Amino acid sequence: MDTENIIVIDGHELSFKPDETILQVAQRNGIDIPTLCYMEGCTPTGSCRICLVEVEGARSLVVSCAVPASPKMVVKTESPRVIRARRMNIELLLASGDHNCLAQDLDMDSWTDFQLKAMEAKEHQALCPSYGDCRLQDLAVRYQVKTGLFKPSETCYPIETVNPFIVRDFSRCILCGRCVQACNEVQVNNAISFGYRGAASKVVAKGDLALKDSDCVFCGECVQACPVGALLPKQDLHPEYVPGKAKKVRTTCAYCGVGCQLYLHVKDNRVIKVTGVKGVGPNFGSLCVKGRFGYDFIHDPDRLKTPLIRENGEFRNVSWEEALNFVAERLTQIKKTSGPDSIMVLTSARITNEENYLAQKFVRAVIGTNNIDHCARL
Ligand code: FES
Repeated sequence: MDTENIIVIDGHELSFKPDETILQVAQRNGIDIPTLCYMEGCTPTGSCRICLVEVEGARSLVVSCAVPASPKMVVKTESPRVIRARRMNIELLLASGDHNCLAQDLDMDSWTDFQLKAMEAKEHQALCPSYGDCRLQDLAVRYQVKTGLFKPSETCYPIETVNPFIVRDFSRCILCGRCVQACNEVQVNNAISFGYRGAASKVVAKGDLALKDSDCVFCGECVQACPVGALLPKQDLHPEYVPGKAKKVRTTCAYCGVGCQLYLHVKDNRVIKVTGVKGVGPNFGSLCVKGRFGYDFIHDPDRLKTPLIRENGEFRNVSWEEALNFVAERLTQIKKTSGPDSIMVLTSARITNEENYLAQKFVRAVIGTNNIDHCARL
């Protein structure tokens, strides 16, 4: 057998392509190696050291997200040595701030008790808002991490709540760098980077300003990339919000004609969060500020719920049937008395392609004029 491009992972002989990492080969073949800082499509940083694997002949464990596969490499992804190292790294991350998700109380001998305790504490005010939707917590549970060996580090920076859409809780940041990559490599906004050194390290914006005073455009890509509770959509702090409990409904963003795919996170018939759908076009998981954060109108008490007809300067609520009949009658009358070219329809860049298509079809085929235009040409 030609072993030029064959690697052995957990006893499976697998071929690899040039420049593929151990992690990529494993993922392509359905072998699960846990990751935390790894962002698909971005430069691997190897900062969290969760994806450690054992390579036969290597002196130390290697990070599979950054090390290229090579011929005859023999890899073990869940050996006792690997699991011991992963547990230690998870424990260090849990100790690096305020991770009060009760993973800290986890006792390997009382697995069920831990889960029950966590369930009871769900409504606790001080509980991390990302409870149930946290990659670090998932890993702590998966590897049954017992904490207490390291003293949790002090938080150096206060929570930042002055921004319109994003809350930054530095006490929960594990400095994995996913937000920085999301900003710089995915959205290419270059608004945030690492600042300071050692225990004072922090993700900073424009020197060290609040996001609202920086180059941030509030696309929220960083929030979606954050694996813990360090970056949160501001609306998520609504008392109704319990992450991990919402149903995800896939839909198409209606803010413009691009057709971005998104998930509405729905709980008790309320949209409580929006995220992009990964792996499908046109947006491949990314969203803009409107698509990601512009959903509070849905439950706004002042939202118009019926059409209005103005009579004598006053608006009157009417049914859709009455409104459509009224418009049809008026357009028919105008067309009869003044001709179809006396009518013009202006559509919008802020509606979907389908709606724009229907509008031009209606104007040309029903009204009988080519007087159709679009707000983007004004
Ligand atoms: Fe590989 Fe973090 S996922 S080092």
